[in-house]
Amino acid sequence: MYEELNEIREKCLNCQKCPLGQTRTNIVFPDGIPNSKLMLIGEAPGFYEDQQGKPFVGKAGQLLDRIFASVGLSREKDVYICNTLKCRPPENRNPLPDEKEACWEYLKAQIEIIKPRLILLCGNVAVQSILGNAGGITRIRGKWFSPEAAVVDVYGAKMMPIFHPSYLLRNDSREKGSPKWLMWQDIQEIKREYDKLSA
Ligand code: URA
Ligand code: URA
Repeated sequence: MYEELNEIREKCLNCQKCPLGQTRTNIVFPDGIPNSKLMLIGEAPGFYEDQQGKPFVGKAGQLLDRIFASVGLSREKDVYICNTLKCRPPENRNPLPDEKEACWEYLKAQIEIIKPRLILLCGNVAVQSILGNAGGITRIRGKWFSPEAAVVDVYGAKMMPIFHPSYLLRNDSREKGSPKWLMWQDIQEIKREYDKLSA
């Protein structure tokens, strides 16, 4: 499995399928726990990820780590964290359709090799890549989607859309019904489902 993933990483290292290949500092490809039952798909690398070549290492990533830690999950032992795009879009603009299409090959391979049982779709970009036009994140977050709901092959994984941590950083309230409060509900539901897998 490590070997297969390394082949994909090598392909990304040499990839010039879209113009982001010219502007990236590093590709962002995770090196953690390929046998994970739980995968999180984010959007695209930002400044720090591009500098370090690792996913979710900036402020949003630190919040994500705290969210997982609140239910005893971590990227070191539980969660395979990856992104829709492997290269940073300049100024962190939204990924363009051509970029997502060019990069899909690599995310598809990650899903196929790892075959996670649960996939968290983190933010609207990841939702659109996997569920198509299932709806906006505020309406569909926190719901489990069956594998058949995906517009791509997810190898039997159940999927849940969740808010992007960058969005939570911009919405600081913890009141009942706020995005942070909703994320707290969602992560507990995710943990319940995760625990069932090993029960
Ligand atoms: N935001 C993302 O969607 N992915 C990262 O890796 C970092 C920030
Ligand atoms: N818009 C997004 O793209 N993601 C969120 O998490 C919330 C709003």
